[in-house]
Amino acid sequence: LAGFLAGYAAAGGQAGVAPASAAGKARPLTILYATESGNAEALAGKAQAAARRLGFKPVLLDMADASPADLAGAQNLLVIASTWGEGDPPQRAAFFYEDLMGAGAPRLEKVRYSVLALGDSAYVNFCETGRRLDSRLSELGAVRAAGRVECDLDFEKPAAAWTETALAALAPVDGAAAEAGAEIIRVDFHKEAAGLWTQENPFPAGLVQQIELSGSRSTKHVFHLELSLEGSGIAFEPGDALAVLPENEPALVEEVLEKSGLAGEEALGRRLLGELDITTLSRPLMESYQRLRPHDGLARLLDGEDWRGFAKDRQLVDLLEAFPARLEAGELTGLLRPLPARSYSLASSPLAFPGEAHLLVGAVRWQSHGRARAGVASTWLGERIRRGGAVRVFLRPNRHFRLPADGRTPVVMIGPGTGVAPFRAFLQHRREQAATGRNWLFFGDRSSTHDFLYQLEWQELAQDGLLTRMDVAFSRDQPEKIYVQHRLWEQRRELWAWLEEGAQLYLCGDATAMAADVESMLLAIAADQGGLDRDAARVWLGDLVRGKRFQRDVY
Ligand code: 2AM
Repeated sequence: LAGFLAGYAAAGGQAGVAPASAAGKARPLTILYATESGNAEALAGKAQAAARRLGFKPVLLDMADASPADLAGAQNLLVIASTWGEGDPPQRAAFFYEDLMGAGAPRLEKVRYSVLALGDSAYVNFCETGRRLDSRLSELGAVRAAGRVECDLDFEKPAAAWTETALAALAPVDGAAAEAGAEIIRVDFHKEAAGLWTQENPFPAGLVQQIELSGSRSTKHVFHLELSLEGSGIAFEPGDALAVLPENEPALVEEVLEKSGLAGEEALGRRLLGELDITTLSRPLMESYQRLRPHDGLARLLDGEDWRGFAKDRQLVDLLEAFPARLEAGELTGLLRPLPARSYSLASSPLAFPGEAHLLVGAVRWQSHGRARAGVASTWLGERIRRGGAVRVFLRPNRHFRLPADGRTPVVMIGPGTGVAPFRAFLQHRREQAATGRNWLFFGDRSSTHDFLYQLEWQELAQDGLLTRMDVAFSRDQPEKIYVQHRLWEQRRELWAWLEEGAQLYLCGDATAMAADVESMLLAIAADQGGLDRDAARVWLGDLVRGKRFQRDVY
């Protein structure tokens, strides 16, 4: 043991792990992941490669395809779990997660494990899924071999460090390998991604078109953007998303500088504009600020749970205003995380528009605590950048949102608001492929006169015979709300028939209310049309998800 640890420490503590297979037998290892947009899945793949090099026999397990019983036989377990929205597990992992939390979960005394939690510190329940999985595994008797690591959006480095530490902790405890001078393997996730366009090295895509689709009297501002990917080599499929690195609002940059006593610092201003996150107010940020410039009031907030109430709907400027202090430039930048990229579902097919990427962007604006707030990327794309400018982008593939491989398979697409974007790509793609399967689109928005996004295109597709059916729900055209799920209910017989014939179902759009409401309606339809009771309907929907016949891209 001493030898192994010595070898590990000599490599710089967190820098390397001695291969685990020197004893000859490969150690079984389960790498369980819960992924929403694919980050946890990608990290699981990298952990698998690292584990293999160390002589483990690693098996990847997607929570979407697993049940807690699958863990009972595991000896070594790595869990990589994303948190989604307000602290929920990724949707496809929800069934596993509920079962693990439930009374029927198996005892796991034989399991040694470690958890990597992914999250976004812009949300108050940061890394909640990973935290809960960690404590539940321990409750079920599993032994925590290495402590949980929690990562924010810039997760590569901490994830690589966790992988090393966790694999070292799970490696055989006999020190033979290290004493024999075994090679130390370094885990570096950055290197493996080199060569592609990434967050650190984005492609500057020219903005060739920017059209506001919403009418002048609409209550919303929705924009159609066309970007040139010429020369990037970016190859995408419908269903993928394009990540955009936006610029902050100049007025907000000014205000942050002013409130920090740094007005007029131009070089700093440029960094704040294009590189750093100046809007998010997270607990880690509040803690760093408190360490830098202690305030009694902030100490009290951070002492218990009151920080949550303060952080809700507030941003960095509110903190600087409530607890004023003059900062050095380096102190301010040290508080801020890198500007996160925002993902937009691609709205065009590369077959129909080679070398281009179309995006559908709704400018997000709201009021809170007496201030006008703006979504950074959506208002930049819609209102601040102009045609001819460059948008820094990279591809975020989403292999969980894909057209059926067989062009004859019917598809049903539910996409209210900007959620319709990927379905424009789907339909263009199917037209180019001369796919013969039927296509049914459900679209909803506020007003038919002001918010009927891409109306003429749908009409054309319908005339071509490609768009077999389209049902629309305009929520504010009449006194009572009519939403897409009401149209689903009206069409339930026909919809059920399509599903019975093997149609694939897609849902894209708002995650806070719409997605859950549509899913409840699907359960109600299964009960009404399939004669299923509550539990059976839930199993039916779960099977559709597991069978990849119900795919969701909600945000
Ligand atoms: P509303 O704004 O009138 O409430 C796209 O944003 C469309 O989705 C709008 O018509 C919006 O209606 C509607 N929408 C809002 N909440 C919804 C929900 N829970 N389910 C379905 N559609 C919803």
